[in-house]
Amino acid sequence: MEPITTRLDDAGEAREAGERKLDWAREHMPIVATLRERFEAEQPLDGERVGMAMHVEAKTGVLVELLAAGGAEVAITGCNPLSTQDDVSAALDAQPTITSYARNDVADDEYYGALDAVARAEPTVTVDDGCDLVTLIHDEYSDLLSTVVGGCEETTTGVHRLRAMDDDDALRYPVFAVNDTPTKRLFDNVHGTGESVLSNVAMTTNLTVAGKTVVVAGYGHCGRGVARKAEGWDAHVVVTEVDPRKALEAYMDGHEVLPMAEAAAEGDLFVTTTGNRDVIVGDHFDRMRDGAILANAGHFDVEVDVDELGDRAVARREVRPGVEEFELADGRRLHLLAEGRLVNLAGPLSMGHPVEVMDQSFGVQALCVRELVEGAYEAGVHDVPDAVDREVARVKLDAEGVAHDDLTATQRDYLDSWQHGT
Ligand code: NAI
Repeated sequence: MEPITTRLDDAGEAREAGERKLDWAREHMPIVATLRERFEAEQPLDGERVGMAMHVEAKTGVLVELLAAGGAEVAITGCNPLSTQDDVSAALDAQPTITSYARNDVADDEYYGALDAVARAEPTVTVDDGCDLVTLIHDEYSDLLSTVVGGCEETTTGVHRLRAMDDDDALRYPVFAVNDTPTKRLFDNVHGTGESVLSNVAMTTNLTVAGKTVVVAGYGHCGRGVARKAEGWDAHVVVTEVDPRKALEAYMDGHEVLPMAEAAAEGDLFVTTTGNRDVIVGDHFDRMRDGAILANAGHFDVEVDVDELGDRAVARREVRPGVEEFELADGRRLHLLAEGRLVNLAGPLSMGHPVEVMDQSFGVQALCVRELVEGAYEAGVHDVPDAVDREVARVKLDAEGVAHDDLTATQRDYLDSWQHGT
């Protein structure tokens, strides 16, 4: 597999467009900028090779540049066939110690060929969004297992897969669950997904959210964000859940909670955020209103049963870029966004999360890569060290000019003591 610049008709033009996108992202990523100064001075990744499978767009690009500035050689490809921005990929590939294999909307063999190319670069550290690189290395490049010092995982689904590997004693190197750390999950999954999903649905359909019934499947971090933002956009929100505590939380947050079988008949817009499969299936399609819109925000394209929807359709056509209409036998039309893939990343207008949110997530990623290189961790899934998480929050607050209190010595003693009572 060749890097992207050798496969584009006009790599120069693409590179310039990509550089402009990178510029905008860099300007709004103060945490990464601060870390970059440190990484350039200290060269903590000197001699390391970082292999990455992530959504290749501008914010990720700024992380890639940071790792390269820290001394690493970086090879990157996408983690979703539709989320790569070719111009950003080309701009990255043009940099001396970065090779990007990512290209948008390629056939399966090219998509997986690019992942193979990253593995063949013999990474000493992996950075994944969905665990594809870790599994590829374990399945097909096991000779690398002795030289990989560790990995970082960006998303919930990837962490689920890693924990399953770990439970089976199949995970052979240490991986930080970057997703699970507060500075990532409480902002990226909640605010990032909430804002970018709704804004992408609105831009893709050019329809209002206000006044609509929005059914949010899953009330975890992403679902809570989508539900809260949809309410802020004046929608009526219905939540579906399988966990009674989450269902209760949604109910107490003021949302209507229904089983999907009932919610299916109510919704104008459906957003799946479960990380699970078969959340909206055949019977649900039968009950939906004419014109209902289906969007998935979970990592893989298995939350809406797209094959079943296709089987039930008597006709299907693209009605707008990123919107496919499925006409059912009784004349109802259901509209699927972004082929049922991550709606905020894989649609024609999608740009992923807001820049500032990814600044936090990628600040954690960069510090975790450094931690893996400098520390000595056992194979398995590891929580991000608390000090790393706090450091990212501190840099962010400084950049925003937000001051906060510190514990006094007396307060610290009080909190550490079990002897103080009534
Ligand atoms: P989470 O674990 O916090 O929440 C998932 C929720 O879905 C849980 O409350 C669970 O009980 C519920 N659930 C599971 N199966 C269900 C079903 N059949 N019906 C209804 N609810 C169900 O996970 P989080 O962090 O919210 O991530 C969810 C998914 O979104 C993952 O696939 C993750 O990788 C992905 N993600 C997507 C992003 C994006 O940009 N679109 C950003 C971050 C995460």
